[in-house]
Amino acid sequence: MMVKQHMLFTLYSICGIVLKDILAISGAQGQFPIVQNMTVTEGGIANLTCRVEHNDNTSLQWSNPAQQTLFFGDKKALRDNRIELVRATSQELTISISEVTLADEGMYTCSLFTMPVKTAKAFLTVLGVPKKPEINGLTKPLLEGDQITLTCVTSGSKPAADVRWFKNEKEIKGAKEVNASGKTFTVKSSLQLLVNRHDDGVAYTCRVDHVSLTATHEETTQVLEVHYAPYVEIKHSIPAPLEGQYLKLECVPHGNPSPDPVLWTKDGGELPDLDRVIVEGRELTFMSLNKTDNGTYRCEATNHLGTSHAEYKLVVKDAPTTSSPSTASPAPTLPDNTGPLDSKDLNSAVTGNRDPNALPGPPDHALIGGIVAVVVFATLCLIIVLGRYLARHKGTYLTNEAKGADDAPDADTAIINADGNHAHAEEKKEYFI
Ligand SMILES: *[C@@H]1O[C@H](CO)[C@@H](O)[C@H](O)[C@H]1NC(C)=O
Ligand SMILES: *[C@@H]1O[C@H](CO)[C@@H](O)[C@H](O)[C@H]1NC(C)=O
Ligand SMILES: *[C@@H]1O[C@H](CO)[C@@H](O)[C@H](O)[C@H]1NC(C)=O
Ligand SMILES: *[C@@H]1O[C@H](CO)[C@@H](O)[C@H](O)[C@H]1NC(C)=O
Ligand SMILES: *[C@@H]1O[C@H](CO)[C@@H](O)[C@H](O)[C@H]1NC(C)=O
Ligand SMILES: *[C@@H]1O[C@H](CO)[C@@H](O)[C@H](O)[C@H]1NC(C)=O
Repeated sequence: MMVKQHMLFTLYSICGIVLKDILAISGAQGQFPIVQNMTVTEGGIANLTCRVEHNDNTSLQWSNPAQQTLFFGDKKALRDNRIELVRATSQELTISISEVTLADEGMYTCSLFTMPVKTAKAFLTVLGVPKKPEINGLTKPLLEGDQITLTCVTSGSKPAADVRWFKNEKEIKGAKEVNASGKTFTVKSSLQLLVNRHDDGVAYTCRVDHVSLTATHEETTQVLEVHYAPYVEIKHSIPAPLEGQYLKLECVPHGNPSPDPVLWTKDGGELPDLDRVIVEGRELTFMSLNKTDNGTYRCEATNHLGTSHAEYKLVVKDAPTTSSPSTASPAPTLPDNTGPLDSKDLNSAVTGNRDPNALPGPPDHALIGGIVAVVVFATLCLIIVLGRYLARHKGTYLTNEAKGADDAPDADTAIINADGNHAHAEEKKEYFI
């Protein structure tokens, strides 16, 4: 019996504890405000929501970081046009602050006026939007060898923005510096450059990324303009010029500002009379080479930073009677420009005088000769066939073309006659064409 009573007592105790817990949740102890921290970009709208799960019509209040009451229930307390009531029920008090500024940042308090008063605190974080970046330190135009420091500055970000440099889309590392000014940050990134001719036309972009710029970014681009002394290369249309051939030389000057026009000279003097060579701007053309054209041709280009030249040594070889391999000796000379010349330029200047740059020439004479030979041969064959035909049908059809066979007693003699008379065959060709 004693054991049974003890068990019953224990059962009551457990039930009691459980009941007490259930009451605590639904009763006065569950009556507390719930709020959430918020992050808003400056200029945006912040909604401050305070909820009470179980409320017996006790009043709710929102107050700002300076402890000023904003709303007490549905009653506006602070005269600020940016602050409006969104919703006021016994279970919720939501207000909105529009055109949020950095000064609005801070701890906001929701109070539930039970006895004692219960409060909940929500921190409003305001993000500062970085200004469009500015690039400084660039002068235009730059000269080769100039040393410059480009700086990119963006202010107004909070937290500090990320600033990156790109040289023609490819990221390069800059030196970053962050300064706080008030609540926001000024971020600066510097880039030291030693300018050369390859920087001419290169775009430097400064890009700013920030949490307040969702799915986008701010950027500014500057394009470098570099002036440099010219260097020159001469391109030629054929590698080994022969007498009677067509040859075109092209002078290609590189420089900024562009060195135009160019000056052609031969062996340190004037070019020969214009019926030997045709000069058209940068191009020098020989319609038909002659050995008297031998010599060193020089092209000179000048801009305000300097003068440079290239030379081409023309050696006209005999036209081939037998097909003997001939060699040309174009003489690449290094530019005597005043600016520094790196190895890349040197390479292009030297290779510029070789075949890869060869210009297209007129059609080969050997090819034309071949075609003529074929036509002549075909003509001869036709004459032979016609001769044989006419030999069998004497006097029936007498044509001009059959003359070779006309006075031949038979077909074989006709072949010999036709073959031996080359000039005659040439004439025939014209009839057929
Ligand atoms: C704030 O509340 C208003 C009104 O209920 C709503 O239109 C707006 O989308 C809310 N803004 C945010 C950021 O929650
Ligand atoms: C709250 O107040 C409203 C009207 O003022 C009343 O209808 C409602 O019964 C009250 N609720 C509680 C839990 O006191
Ligand atoms: C809200 O912000 C405050 C201050 O930044 C912080 O101490 C607190 O832990 C945050 N609360 C929540 C729920 O994130
Ligand atoms: C940051 O502060 C340092 C020292 O006060 C100053 O020298 C520098 O110019 C400032 N930089 C910027 C980007 O304001
Ligand atoms: C080359 O020039 C000389 C003298 O002007 C001339 O006699 C000769 O016929 C020319 N040769 C050719 C292949 O044109
Ligand atoms: C031109 O050069 C060729 C090849 O070296 C030489 O045979 C010829 O005599 C030269 N003619 C003149 C006029 O210098």
